[in-house]
Amino acid sequence: MGQSLTEKILSEHLVDGKLEPGEEIGIEIDQTIAHDLTGTMVWLQFEALDLDEVRVDVAGQHCDHQTYQPDFKVTDDHRFLRSAAGTYGAYFARPGTGILHQVHKENYTTPGTTLLGADSHTPTAGGLGAIGIGTGGLDVATAMGGAPYYIEMPEVVNVRLEGKLPPWTTAKDVILELLRRLSVKGGIDKVFEYTGPGVETLSANERTVISNMGTELGATTSVFPTDERTRDYLARLGREDDYRKLGPDPDAEYDEQIVIDLSDLDPLVACPSMPDNVVPVREVVGTTVDQVIVGSCTNGAYEDLLPITELLSNREVASGTETIVQPGSKQAAEMLSREGRTADLLAAGVNFSEATCGACIGAGHVPASDSVSLRTFNRNFEGRSGNEEDDVYLCSPEVAAVSALSGELVDPRDAAAEFDLDPPGRVLPDSYIGTSEADLIQPDGAIDDELVKGPNFGAVPLKDSLESTVSGPVLLKVPDNITTDHIIPGTKEVSMYRSNVPKLSEYTLSRVDEEFADRAASAGSGFIVAGENYGQGSSREHAALCPMYLGVDGVLAKSFARIHRTNLINFGLLPLVIDDTTYDRLDESDEVTLVEDVVSAVEMGQTELTIRVNDNWEAPVTLHANERERTLLIEGGKLPHTKRRLSS
Ligand code: F3S
Repeated sequence: MGQSLTEKILSEHLVDGKLEPGEEIGIEIDQTIAHDLTGTMVWLQFEALDLDEVRVDVAGQHCDHQTYQPDFKVTDDHRFLRSAAGTYGAYFARPGTGILHQVHKENYTTPGTTLLGADSHTPTAGGLGAIGIGTGGLDVATAMGGAPYYIEMPEVVNVRLEGKLPPWTTAKDVILELLRRLSVKGGIDKVFEYTGPGVETLSANERTVISNMGTELGATTSVFPTDERTRDYLARLGREDDYRKLGPDPDAEYDEQIVIDLSDLDPLVACPSMPDNVVPVREVVGTTVDQVIVGSCTNGAYEDLLPITELLSNREVASGTETIVQPGSKQAAEMLSREGRTADLLAAGVNFSEATCGACIGAGHVPASDSVSLRTFNRNFEGRSGNEEDDVYLCSPEVAAVSALSGELVDPRDAAAEFDLDPPGRVLPDSYIGTSEADLIQPDGAIDDELVKGPNFGAVPLKDSLESTVSGPVLLKVPDNITTDHIIPGTKEVSMYRSNVPKLSEYTLSRVDEEFADRAASAGSGFIVAGENYGQGSSREHAALCPMYLGVDGVLAKSFARIHRTNLINFGLLPLVIDDTTYDRLDESDEVTLVEDVVSAVEMGQTELTIRVNDNWEAPVTLHANERERTLLIEGGKLPHTKRRLSS
């Protein structure tokens, strides 16, 4: 049986396991990226590995999420990130150079490589035939040290594209159509691999629009084959040498197949407040639009900004509609300026913003309460815009541009007749300019050769190896559905301390019990007792790291959210499953001891263990961990394990 493209790239990078759905595999990583929110912890963890330099082909550090925050801690972070990149041999994209996925795509994404990013939209790289996966900072730090990345082999879904997009219908509508069909949960533990005659009708940039937003399906990643259009794209960027022809074997078999006939698609829009709440634009025409923003890592490339420049040239936006272009990269902005297009936009009443994530994460251009904001972004979750009372619609740049002209949501096909518009072009110029070396600082042009840490930085704690005797008090008992946000609040005030674990730890579980952190720190050991689904919500690693810093040995819970269970193991904490009766009987300050020699039990893969409580009753607990995870638990977590492995 032939291989899919996904299997081919993964086989080339496979260092552990078998490519069978659900089996754990370890893959070698070629490139890594991080942004300013995740990067500080990535580099502090990398520092803890005690290596002289990164051991991947390309490591990149970008500053795109926080360029508008009026706080010295942010500029201290950027200063630290530049020094870390220089010290360890990564490239550094200065604040304002652009959004990491755009800048990486234009300068580094290479067909057939693996890219691990501390950001969920890393799959953008799949449009150019790379396997890009978003993950936590710890995985990125250890991958930069040369450690494999472990993941359960996803199912591979074949999305077969037939036909050709009609005028005014775009790549954004392809991914919105998939979201409409499959929902935001439809891609979990799956890779979406695109094939079929429709692929060659899409430009390389259009493919990256689709792979970027595969993240909203919950997909592990998305990937396209490469062809002459990929070669042409790379050649225009001056990177033709990076081209490699890639595709599945003709007899490749897939776990699932979906067919989309591009010629049947209409311009679509995702209504408030979910990316899968998708309807044809014609169903919502006439909705007054108060704000339009074109940009983000989904639709912020030069080719995505062309439509608005062409459609608005010598016209004016509706005066009730605040219209903003926020380019994905400074390269795109510079190109538009050189061509005089920025002047056309400004004359049309459009505001031009710095090349950052900005409005996509509510940093600037926050919409007024109960007003409609139409954006070319990938997410419209309630409140993400910075206002809980928002009404955010997601659409293509074409729909955004014609709606800015009309002041209300319009189907671009109707607008074409009304305003006498031709479908805009979407081609990268023959020789697209490169990013200036002042903005994209290469390792050999590094400014710093040692780390520069502002007053807000703390060292990353390393856990000792597991001891044979594990015992301590129940530090806190919490109900079902405790989220990672309960464990470490994601508020601005708290997240400012993400590079300072000792300070951040003071907020651990403070939303449940303000005295928890003090109690845990003075006990120096012990357990959290929890109900069902402990650690649900975002994948926040600090929700495991901070309890570890405080001395927590493990969590006794009825069940764990999957990613948080992995995070607990990654930081050396025991995730132990208890039954309903044990949960009911356990109380705060009970003394809990694991009866077995814990190191031997974990080493031997024993899943059933026993706890003794207050020396007067016992109960069974279960530890589910595969062989690799058991090693991590014994060695105190992934960081000490990787450090040991790399120095041996
Ligand atoms: Fe995230 Fe920035 Fe894209 S916030 S969704 S990487 S624009």
